[in-house]
Amino acid sequence: MSSSARRPWFLGLWVAVLAPNGCGIPGSRPPAPSEITMERDIHSYARPDECRVTHIALDLDADFVGKALRGKARLTLDRAPGASSVWLDTEGLQIAAVRDGDGAALVHALSPRDAVLGSALRIDLGASNTVVIEYETKDAAALQWLEPRQTQSGKPFLFTQGQAILTRTWIPCQDTPGVRQSYDARITAPAGLRAVMSAARLDDGVATADGRIAYRFALEQPVPSYLIALAVGDLAFRPIGARTGVFAEPQVVEGAAWELADTETMVELAERLYGPYRWGRFDVLILPPSFPFGGMENPCLTFATPTILAGDRSLVALIAHELAHSWSGNLVTNSTWSDLWLNEGFTVYFERRIMEALYGVPYAEMLHVLGWQDLQSDLTAFANGPDTTLHIDVSGRNPDDAFSNVPYEKGELLLVTIERDVGRERFDTFLADYFARYAFQPMSAERFERHLRDTLFAADAGAIERLKLRQWIHSPGLPDNAIEPKSAEFARVDAERVRFESGAAVASLDVSGFTTHHWLHLLRKLPAGTSLARLAELDQRFALTATGNSEIRFEWLRIAIRERYEAAFPALEDFLVKQGRRKFLKPLYEDLVRTDWGKALARRIYDRARPGYHTVSANTIDGILAKAGA
Ligand code: BES
Ligand code: ZN
Repeated sequence: MSSSARRPWFLGLWVAVLAPNGCGIPGSRPPAPSEITMERDIHSYARPDECRVTHIALDLDADFVGKALRGKARLTLDRAPGASSVWLDTEGLQIAAVRDGDGAALVHALSPRDAVLGSALRIDLGASNTVVIEYETKDAAALQWLEPRQTQSGKPFLFTQGQAILTRTWIPCQDTPGVRQSYDARITAPAGLRAVMSAARLDDGVATADGRIAYRFALEQPVPSYLIALAVGDLAFRPIGARTGVFAEPQVVEGAAWELADTETMVELAERLYGPYRWGRFDVLILPPSFPFGGMENPCLTFATPTILAGDRSLVALIAHELAHSWSGNLVTNSTWSDLWLNEGFTVYFERRIMEALYGVPYAEMLHVLGWQDLQSDLTAFANGPDTTLHIDVSGRNPDDAFSNVPYEKGELLLVTIERDVGRERFDTFLADYFARYAFQPMSAERFERHLRDTLFAADAGAIERLKLRQWIHSPGLPDNAIEPKSAEFARVDAERVRFESGAAVASLDVSGFTTHHWLHLLRKLPAGTSLARLAELDQRFALTATGNSEIRFEWLRIAIRERYEAAFPALEDFLVKQGRRKFLKPLYEDLVRTDWGKALARRIYDRARPGYHTVSANTIDGILAKAGA
């Protein structure tokens, strides 16, 4: 990689202390693995201080008949002096053989399965710094194998979701965000299907002797394991700009390319804000509707739900969000899942800066206010409890069980608080430098606090206290210096809502120029107890039950459940069955089981819907129904 690769291992540690990433020169090389100081990650069995994976070479076959991935992972290791074994994370892998680089069998042992962590795989090493693991994975939680009837194309589909600790269910690896590796892959798939990965594409598929197609990929930038991603399906591609394009099933790709037309501009705006985009291409993959997240920032190829395809480009903040992760998250990475806010909070801040640059201040203000509302509702739901701190305690739990808006929106508010204090210009310089200096390195709350003290606040020792930074990061709830965002556009919406509440005819409401975000605000503020007749009036005039805009439909369905507006229940069932985005499913099932009449309905719908959900969503909804006794 560089001369540092030949420096003695212990000298590398000195470099980490003295000169993080080549003295913070923007665009400098990734640091050598041994230069990186590690936090202990309770969600991994890896012992990176002894031995780290630096490269993964995959050779896997996607067997759609057996619903299995099968093949080999060849891991390149960086060993500390005296270390004699490597510790990997696995979950549910069937391991057929473990060999060294010369093909000699290696002694290895799998620990008993832990419900959260899976099983440690310890491999005893000989002289070789390569291990080759032959394995198969079936029923992996990261994977969803879709039947032809679950896709637009009528062809089968496979996709992975690695974050937070699911990559170990399909690749034996050091499944901690503190360990980074480059990777390459050869994926074979049935003829007629195309494989894509979070990496550069090396070819467009080559036929194999047995009539399958082999695709090759390589990502030379080192990334944490949760960013290794694969999808296989009937995929077409449409270019957007020089570095950007969209993959989707042929039935969807044209509309998707139209919807995401601003993607290239977003990349340019992002670079202008915080420095060069360091991943080559930025393509978007539109997945089938069961994708459990809105988006996932897989490098070179963001994965996105089709529910952002509103037909009017109004939901593309999600693309800005995943793009922003190319800096916050994919370059500078939370060292453990306790500091997810360092990925997500920074990304929400960056996302809104991109949206502001693209569509203006009033637009970004609306996003801010909606985010504030999301945060308030979680702070209330968690009663300002321990999961409302930024640096959270996830011991004994799957990090996914602590997932909420808090790391996103409270994290963003902290950055806004700092920005207001030092001024935007200084803050922007600070952020650009932060991304350059810590590129390809793990970041912890402690390291970030230290960095702030040594840079932005070096000449202002009182700032940490004044801004209550420790309280922001380590205490629950929202500090009193949080700045509540305001939106003039929403003031207009509120005025119309008040008229509606005081009985004005729906036809008389002035909704001219209302965009998706105006509607979301209106619906969220519609008071509980609105009569069925008034709801029907709204519905007739604005076709809310029939809307194809997933975000508006979601807010409307929440009202329908709250008021028991049964006219919308077929649409509710349809929505719960036909898409699997957890952000939409979770509140709707929660709302249903909270009512006496809704438990049975929730159960009936869920029995139909569950087979179509990804494990990430199914696990969450299982929990909701079990807790409610539904
Ligand atoms: N990286 C997240 C998704 C994630 C977080 C997966 C934690 C697993 C664990 C992604 O960038 C994200 O935040 N997606 C959001 C969309 C965004 C616009 C807030 C989502 O999926 O809704
Ligand atoms: Zn995110």
